[in-house]
Amino acid sequence: MVTATTKTEIEHAAFELPSFSIDAIRAAKRVTPALGPTDVLVRMRAASLNYRDILVALGVYNKGIPLPRIPLSDGAGEIVEIGSSVTRFKVGDRVSPNFFADWLSGPINATVKSSDLGGTKDGVLREYAVFNERSVVRIPEHLSFQEAATLPCAALTAWNGLIENGGLRAGETVLVMGTGGVSVFALQLAIMSGAEVIATTSSDEKMKRLQKMGASHVINYKKTPDWEKEVIKYTCGRGVDHVVEIGGAGTLAKSAVSVKVGGHISLIGVLADAKQKSDFEISLLMKAVKLQGVFVGSVEMYERMNAAIALHKLKPVIDKTFKASQIVEALKYQQSGAHFGKIVVTI
Ligand SMILES: NC(=O)c1ccc[n+]([C@@H]2O[C@H](COP(=O)([O-])OP(=O)(O)OC[C@H]3O[C@@H](n4cnc5c(N)ncnc54)[C@H](OP(=O)(O)O)[C@@H]3O)[C@@H](O)[C@H]2O)c1
Repeated sequence: MVTATTKTEIEHAAFELPSFSIDAIRAAKRVTPALGPTDVLVRMRAASLNYRDILVALGVYNKGIPLPRIPLSDGAGEIVEIGSSVTRFKVGDRVSPNFFADWLSGPINATVKSSDLGGTKDGVLREYAVFNERSVVRIPEHLSFQEAATLPCAALTAWNGLIENGGLRAGETVLVMGTGGVSVFALQLAIMSGAEVIATTSSDEKMKRLQKMGASHVINYKKTPDWEKEVIKYTCGRGVDHVVEIGGAGTLAKSAVSVKVGGHISLIGVLADAKQKSDFEISLLMKAVKLQGVFVGSVEMYERMNAAIALHKLKPVIDKTFKASQIVEALKYQQSGAHFGKIVVTI
């Protein structure tokens, strides 16, 4: 129920990270600041987890952020009050904040990079949050708060890597790795764009789900450690057009083999351990591959992605939903890697 009369500076429930440990996350109270003329007050309704939230909680990522910090970057909610000069939204609009509050459009730069929610800035695991109206985007109508809360980091990163930077075209082939948030969105967006998907996973069970979602070829990377050879074989020696690389050093050498001459690798994640040194730099160089570092995306990209998601009625894959009070359990579940797609918390 939306009330147009909600007053600002409301005390509300939140969760905070007081020290670098998942177990340390605890319930807290916060007071919303008074709204500036271009601010909106959002009643947060749902949030979703990313692997990055584990890294932040452990102090591996965003080292040196001031604590306590409200965790989680990704959320969705409804506007309950607007500042005097707000033009883009009205009370009752359903919105989601961008991962980088200050990255509105154009290429990323050092200033906007320091505006990530649940890291450099407080995150969304709280009942109320104030954002500048430029930092939030409208939620596609067909999505619930929980579904929309999955989009800001995982989906936008996959979108940026494949569509904005990668220029993915119908008929091309995309390699996605594993069944985490970024990879499942990459599969959905690639199929939505008319591309063919080759996927890897460590689980035969998840293999079936990937096939059901439209992957043409799925490889168990545990049973087939030389999966790059199978990718080459499957593509008749050519290699894939795009790799959505979420493993980092532990998989990059295999991505370099899997990609076609002149292909594109979106360097996104760091999930795999690098145990062996290899000559992948030579492989990348001699294939004249475009290796693109990807860091989520801007508000403008978020709006373009949501237009496509709304048009195609794309539904995010939610593995499990927790209550906000179960945040520690939820993060540990994400850490286990047992999930397929996204993990959500209700607020
Ligand atoms: N650059 C950016 O802007 C950006 C944005 C979002 C995420 N990231 C990074 O991208 C990575 C993925 O994030 P996420 O939130 O999607 O993670 P996630 O949901 O926790 O993904 C976990 C899944 O990754 C798969 N995986 C783990 N090791 C693998 C390996 N060696 N090869 C293939 N798959 C492997 C596993 O899938 P199976 O169970 O199927 O094997 C696992 O279940 C993280 O490193 C994260 O920090 C970066």
